Amino acid sequence: MSNRELSGRVAGRIALVTGAGSGIGRGAAIALAAEGAHLIVTDIDERGLTETVERIHEAGGAAVSFHHDVTDEARWQAILATVQTTFGGLHILVNNAGIGIMSSIFTMSHADWSRQQAINVDGVFFGLKHGCPLLAASGGGSVINISSVAGLRGSPGLAAYCATKGAVRLLSKAVALECAQAGMKVRVNSVHPGIIDTAIWGKVSPEQPGALGLATGANGIDAQVLGAASPLGYAGLPEDIAAGIVYLASDESRYVTGTELVIDGGLSAR
Ligand SMILES: NC(=O)c1ccc[n+]([C@@H]2O[C@H](COP(=O)([O-])OP(=O)(O)OC[C@H]3O[C@@H](n4cnc5c(N)ncnc54)[C@H](O)[C@@H]3O)[C@@H](O)[C@H]2O)c1
Repeated sequence: MSNRELSGRVAGRIALVTGAGSGIGRGAAIALAAEGAHLIVTDIDERGLTETVERIHEAGGAAVSFHHDVTDEARWQAILATVQTTFGGLHILVNNAGIGIMSSIFTMSHADWSRQQAINVDGVFFGLKHGCPLLAASGGGSVINISSVAGLRGSPGLAAYCATKGAVRLLSKAVALECAQAGMKVRVNSVHPGIIDTAIWGKVSPEQPGALGLATGANGIDAQVLGAASPLGYAGLPEDIAAGIVYLASDESRYVTGTELVIDGGLSAR
């Protein structure tokens, strides 16, 4: 174990981050590894995962990756079983994988509604269902579910996304209470990012945002343009969210469960 691992804020902990091949998940994985955690990074994007693992290794951290579709319950069970036998347990779970489908609710297809629900909500459900017992069996730990400011307030064109992120917020609170009641020593919290400059904005179909008055380019929405309208005047970076995730993963937040950490440049203060 390196000196940094011994002195890190999550030194020696085993951490699993979903959707870690890009954006906030990658930022969280890199930050947790820098604070001494051993990372298990998962995603459906193999190339993205390879880059995340390389960046952690280059910085002297420890990480392995698994191909993992969070909507696949059997895959969740297989990965967690492997984590238990290979690493002896799990202490930190970051349910981060998510998509954003921008569409008026009146034109949205049921297929798009269901796909977004499956990734953003079912994926978190499977993580909680199978992850919390493993965390408890490992002596306790912390689950961090990535919601959004869209889980705190409505947003036109994002009604279905808001439904998924609102679900993550209250799912987190209710499971936090179940874990506390059962004496599992597992804390569960949600993180609510505002406009963060990641690839997710480039994946938004450009047709709808224009109708909603949002600035778009050939690659979809420009997060920096959107972020300029927030009270702090710019979009956040994955590191800004990762800092909150490290806090919730560490013992600094040992008395914090069932709450929401908003990191949004003041967006929800209006
Ligand atoms: N970027 C923002 O402004 C913002 C704001 C609020 C909340 N969020 C939330 O933060 C989380 C991360 O978003 P991001 O901005 O880093 O986006 P991103 O697109 O950069 O990264 C999301 C990752 O999730 C992965 N993923 C998608 N479907 C998956 C599946 N079925 N199984 C496993 N992995 C899957 C993608 O391959 C990708 O690597 C999401 O839950 C998103 O809703 C983002």
